[in-house]
Amino acid sequence: MAPPLLLVLLLVSVSSDWAIAHQQANDEAFISAVISEKGIGFAKDVLVEQAIEFLTPLQLPDIEKSVHIPLIGTVHMVASNITLHGVNVSSSAVRIVDSAFAIVASGATAYLSMDWSYSYSTWLITISDRGNASVQVEGMEVELTMSVTNQNGVLELTVLECGCNIEDLDITVTGGASWFYQGFVDAFHNHIRTAVENAITRRITEGVSKLDELLQKIPKKINVDKFVALNVTLVNGPLYGNSSVEFDVNGLFILLDKVPELNYLLNHPHFSLGCGGASKMLLISFDEVVFNSASAVLFQVGLMHWIVDKLPDNSILNTASWKSLIPQLYSTYPNDDMLLNISLTSSPAVRITEEKIGTTIYLDTIVNVLVGAEIVPVASISGVVTVSGIVEVSENNLAGKAELDALSLTLKWSEVGSLNISSIQAVVLDFLNNIIVPFVNSHLNRGFPFPIVHGFTLQDAYIFTSDSRIFVCSDVVNTNPILSLLVNSPFQYL
Ligand SMILES: *[C@@H]1O[C@H](CO)[C@@H](O)[C@H](O)[C@H]1NC(C)=O
Ligand SMILES: *[C@@H]1O[C@H](CO)[C@@H](O)[C@H](O)[C@H]1NC(C)=O
Ligand SMILES: *[C@@H]1O[C@H](CO)[C@@H](O)[C@H](O)[C@H]1NC(C)=O
Ligand SMILES: *[C@@H]1O[C@H](CO)[C@@H](O)[C@H](O)[C@H]1NC(C)=O
Ligand SMILES: *[C@@H]1O[C@H](CO)[C@@H](O)[C@H](O)[C@H]1NC(C)=O
Ligand SMILES: *[C@@H]1O[C@H](CO)[C@@H](O)[C@H](O)[C@H]1NC(C)=O
Ligand SMILES: *[C@@H]1O[C@H](CO)[C@@H](O)[C@H](O)[C@H]1NC(C)=O
Repeated sequence: MAPPLLLVLLLVSVSSDWAIAHQQANDEAFISAVISEKGIGFAKDVLVEQAIEFLTPLQLPDIEKSVHIPLIGTVHMVASNITLHGVNVSSSAVRIVDSAFAIVASGATAYLSMDWSYSYSTWLITISDRGNASVQVEGMEVELTMSVTNQNGVLELTVLECGCNIEDLDITVTGGASWFYQGFVDAFHNHIRTAVENAITRRITEGVSKLDELLQKIPKKINVDKFVALNVTLVNGPLYGNSSVEFDVNGLFILLDKVPELNYLLNHPHFSLGCGGASKMLLISFDEVVFNSASAVLFQVGLMHWIVDKLPDNSILNTASWKSLIPQLYSTYPNDDMLLNISLTSSPAVRITEEKIGTTIYLDTIVNVLVGAEIVPVASISGVVTVSGIVEVSENNLAGKAELDALSLTLKWSEVGSLNISSIQAVVLDFLNNIIVPFVNSHLNRGFPFPIVHGFTLQDAYIFTSDSRIFVCSDVVNTNPILSLLVNSPFQYL
């Protein structure tokens, strides 16, 4: 049973005049984001900044040692409360190596403080002392290699390698006898170096797994309103280039309470597309299917069906006002109120070309007369409306504006004689321009959100279209200067 059904669907899709059509594969992506070398560099800077914030203050385990000091004997020494207070990174770099990000921060300095104490016993008494010390770490290099993979539609970060290497450290002891000072530095120098290297490595690994936990919490859909959501499930990839990476999401609008009846053509790869030479951090592309899914969903929830009983000037529709348009209507139903039942016959298919974004809308209007409590259909008119639109980036939303290009009406049937279609067309045009277009634009104006992390905003974005796709080239700025990725939850959309 199943194969013939599939065949029928395929045939229907081929004969349909919708360019988008009807075969759904699981890994289709309709919204893609390519992060350029510049964008990866920006992300690296944010990450390093966050890592430093996450690293400090960092408490290291105490170190205890028994040290033999000439003339004094065996001295028990303790370095406690060892705290990393600050890290300064002078340079950092990121590369893509074997589908993973290799981040290196080098020439870093770090500042630690600690308490010291010692005790030793002579014949009868125990001698002890305590004080503090500061440690300056020079020439520290931290390397982190992490892979970013797709685990069931969400990003997963895994540390492949993490290392910290310290070239030199300088310990300044406050107080203490000079014999102690030298003994302490000799005995503890390597231990402290290793302890700092280990602690930083462990802490960074911990930071990545915290970040990973946050990524796991990114919703797979962004709710647009109480009916509709954008499916941002990650599909495929991430696809790595030499210096860029592409993330693909499903990108279709869905109904929250039911499975949408949407099926689409397979997507074409478009990885090599750039921002026309401009150096931007991010290239986001939207397939026209995204807009078609929005239109299909709005159609399904009944937002493309209107009952009209008033004119744009708010006056009640009445056969008297249509006297000149349909004389026989007035003579049959003098001074009766009217009701127009306007519905789109299908959800409008959006077509994107290099020149423009447009759609053709097919609608049916039933002209009804209210006779007492009864609704009497008296005529039916079908119409074809062509609309073109522009899109723009407003904040972190892709918004749009539609404009009516042409309208043509055809009388389907009438029980009140022939109608003057050209004058009806003028009335309908007025209705469309004054009611429907503003209504549609109020929706388009709000737009829909880019799947972008909270705390970041698109900047200097520009838009271009190509065959079936809209591209947004943009830089990204961190709009929350004290954004703390690892502390706050950054993934709050809308
Ligand atoms: C640890 O050192 C910090 C200063 O770095 C100090 O404020 C804190 O009181 C010390 N803690 C203990 C338990 O000595
Ligand atoms: C890092 O370096 C800057 C100047 O290069 C300095 O002002 C700052 O105090 C340093 N940070 C720490 C923690 O010492
Ligand atoms: C270290 O000890 C000196 C003198 O004992 C004191 O003035 C200073 O505040 C101490 N520093 C820290 C960080 O505890
Ligand atoms: C990626 O790098 C390889 C080797 O360095 C090179 O052969 C290839 O052309 C590069 N690809 C692109 C798209 O730059
Ligand atoms: C969202 O997209 C994913 C990947 O294409 C798909 O598997 C999933 O069924 C979609 N969810 C809904 C509710 O359509
Ligand atoms: C409007 O038309 C639709 C279908 O064209 C029909 O289902 C609906 O009942 C009509 N409503 C009124 C009020 O005429
Ligand atoms: C239709 O109405 C227009 C003006 O509204 C008029 O000029 C035209 O002659 C009318 N056509 C017919 C066939 O009555």
